[in-house]
Amino acid sequence: MENEHRRLDAKFAQSLVDTVAVELNKNVNILDEHGVIIASFSRERIGQIHEAGAKMLQNGVVKEFYVSEEDEIDMPGTRNGFNVPIMFEEQCIGLIGVTGDQKTAEPYARLAARFVEANLQSNARQERLVGALTEKEELQSIFLNKIITIQEDERKRISRELHDETSQSLTSIIVGLRVLAEQVQSSEEQEKILEMRDLAVTTLEAVHHMAVELRPVLLDDLGLVAAAKKYIENYTKQYGISMYVDFNNLSRERFSPEVEITLYRILQEALTNIVKHGKAKQVWVSLNKKQDKLILLVDDDGVGFDTEIVRNSHSHTCLGIYGMRERVALVEGKFVIKSALGQGTKIFVEIPLKGKNCEKSIV
Ligand SMILES: Nc1ncnc2c1ncn2[C@@H]1O[C@H](COP(=O)(O)OP(=O)(O)OP(=O)(O)O)[C@@H](O)[C@H]1O
Ligand SMILES: [Mg+2]
Repeated sequence: MENEHRRLDAKFAQSLVDTVAVELNKNVNILDEHGVIIASFSRERIGQIHEAGAKMLQNGVVKEFYVSEEDEIDMPGTRNGFNVPIMFEEQCIGLIGVTGDQKTAEPYARLAARFVEANLQSNARQERLVGALTEKEELQSIFLNKIITIQEDERKRISRELHDETSQSLTSIIVGLRVLAEQVQSSEEQEKILEMRDLAVTTLEAVHHMAVELRPVLLDDLGLVAAAKKYIENYTKQYGISMYVDFNNLSRERFSPEVEITLYRILQEALTNIVKHGKAKQVWVSLNKKQDKLILLVDDDGVGFDTEIVRNSHSHTCLGIYGMRERVALVEGKFVIKSALGQGTKIFVEIPLKGKNCEKSIV
């Protein structure tokens, strides 16, 4: 990269030469760090060695110099004119020469050299900024990946605990209360115990729902298709929205855990958004495998929204769409959301099933 900055761009050099040469009606040459002419008003000189320039660059004694008409005779390939070194990061990386008498040539040669140097510096600065930005973006993606993984692990752990511990305890309480209700004599006491049992049953249902939302056991055990179907079934029951589901060419096929959890979370968020914001009556969900890609489409006939406004709002409370986009990026997929007021919302996700996405090991 450093060496890249130091190299003079031949195209840029030539356009500078053309501008200065036309202005002055004199020839202008730009040499690279070896004394080779990389830009010249007389094109046939390009590629030739400028003897005086090459000598200066080789000795390492960097200074401006004038080639008089007499010198021209002694040194082949050298023209009468004023020559100024081009400096970058304290090194001489070339030379600019303007032909003609010293009085006219000197200020132009200096000006052109400073201009080339300023251009090199600005290119270097720009490259450094781009480099820093790329590094920042890479770091951001690594952090995000970590956050998502940690969050998923944590959800899995809590979901298991709710399922294995809390649900079991609640079930024991329910059974115990039923037995107790049978044993007491007073109907008043019996009623109270049964009320408590009903409360425990409702709590158990809520805990079960929470555990499934956090991480459905089905997803890990039977895979994306089974878990998605179950989620949609519960969703339809709960919200009464008509769902048209097409998982046509997929049955019990398994994908890598990252791909499965990504698509499951996107489906979850997309369907949650439809209930929260969409006021949709009908929703179409399709998940299909095409060649080596997995494609998810979620389409609703709801109120829609202005995607530009949401994209530019920078709201810290709207993380759903942002999260979907980021999750898809982490598995190198494509994410598109299309919506307009009164025209429903369409979500398109395409995930390549190659490389790391191929593994079928279960987390
Ligand atoms: N299916 C949809 N129909 C109508 N509007 C939608 C739909 N999906 C998203 N939106 C609009 O886009 C906005 C951003 O959605 P996003 O999921 O990012 O955030 P949120 O749902 O408001 O909050 P969060 O998901 O972080 O809890 C929503 O506030 C809503 O205005
Ligand atoms: Mg949302």
